[in-house]
Amino acid sequence: MRLLTCFTSLTLVVGLGSLFGTAPAPARDADKAPALVPVPTSMHDFMEGVFQGPYKRLKLVMIAEPKDNAGWKAIRGDALILAEGGNLLLLRKPEKDADEWTKYSVASRDAGADMVKAAKAKDYPASKKAYEAMLNHCNACHKKFDNGKNQLVP
Ligand code: HEC
Repeated sequence: MRLLTCFTSLTLVVGLGSLFGTAPAPARDADKAPALVPVPTSMHDFMEGVFQGPYKRLKLVMIAEPKDNAGWKAIRGDALILAEGGNLLLLRKPEKDADEWTKYSVASRDAGADMVKAAKAKDYPASKKAYEAMLNHCNACHKKFDNGKNQLVP
């Protein structure tokens, strides 16, 4: 009998709960975190500060197949900076032609991701191919948004 009462009240509570709908889940810290906000800089300073260094280093090391793990690690790291840099470009869309900006940023990011993957597998031909593909996307954006300047060579 006691068990039955217990069961009845449980059903009542559950039933009432569904009647009034479930209370909204308390906000998690992650939900309260601020959205991604670009650090204020000009596009010139952004490219110089974030993209130029890894590009210059890759240009030197991609001339020949790395001989050791440290060489591959350096390639992987710089490819990753440029790939993630593509994501950061998505926070810096211009008011005009934003769709094109997005297209080049995503293409450059994805080729960079291919390069990271190939470097992880220590596959030099695939790394080189992804590197060149990435630079084509960098250049396509420079052609459109940097008056054709900064045409980068592998
Ligand atoms: C979505 C567009 C876009 C993409 C993609 C892009 N860039 Fe740029 N980049 C620019 C713009 C715009 C400038 C010119 C900035 C200025 O001087 O006003 C620039 C300038 C540069 C410069 C010259 C900086 C200087 O000091 O004058 C370098 C180097 C550079 N980019 C490297 C890269 C590399 C490497 C990639 C690809 C991995 C890349 N960029 C991809 C938009 C882009």
